[in-house]
Amino acid sequence: MTTSTASNLQVCDHPIVQHYLTRLRDYQTPSCDFRRIAISLSRALAYEAMRDLTAREAGVETPIGPAKGVVLSDYVVIAPILRAGLVLAEAAQELIPPTARVYHVGLKRDEATLQAISYYSKLPDRLPADSKVYILDPMLATGGSSNAAIQLFHNLGVEKIHLVCFLAAPEGIKRVHEKFPYVKITTASVDSHLNEHGFIVPGLGDAGDRIFGT
Ligand code: PRP
Repeated sequence: MTTSTASNLQVCDHPIVQHYLTRLRDYQTPSCDFRRIAISLSRALAYEAMRDLTAREAGVETPIGPAKGVVLSDYVVIAPILRAGLVLAEAAQELIPPTARVYHVGLKRDEATLQAISYYSKLPDRLPADSKVYILDPMLATGGSSNAAIQLFHNLGVEKIHLVCFLAAPEGIKRVHEKFPYVKITTASVDSHLNEHGFIVPGLGDAGDRIFGT
């Protein structure tokens, strides 16, 4: 997949990714199609984000004889931000071995204050310090929700944190990287700006509402 990268920001410009994203932006795309396309886009973005996984050399026997191979050796954590991040988690789980742990983070953005409010968090007391954590949320708008989720893992001493989203606003990227400069961000697009309601412009509307038809 072709990508453009700047420091810890990776923007996927693969034509298939951009095709899916365009379908999601279209206000005429109905909820049932939106969800299906969102899963396809999630799979592509997770695949690209997980390029940073460690593959340890390991031999394998083919029907013809021995061959060189690899096994994935990281302690992988998938952390979807509820609700909309569930669609990304579903796709990410399909990609990686079933040993990956999934920890859900429930955050709701207050529509008036735009502050992230925590309503569910069931993280372990500790994680291996070199765990690779993928925080999944389709939208990085003000960055309040992402920063709240990152903080949870930061508090557990983890630094290999990767945020995967469909869309990001420049304001959100700046806010995340000001507080957590080591966090990698993979997105399909950096949009223009946030409007007065904190929505990404041009964006795709409310991802959660469109995924779940609410
Ligand atoms: C949306 C979105 C992000 C957050 C982004 O979720 O899915 O989690 O807002 O905004 P921020 O960067 O300004 O924090 P929302 O709170 O609407 O919840 P939902 O996923 O349940 O719809």
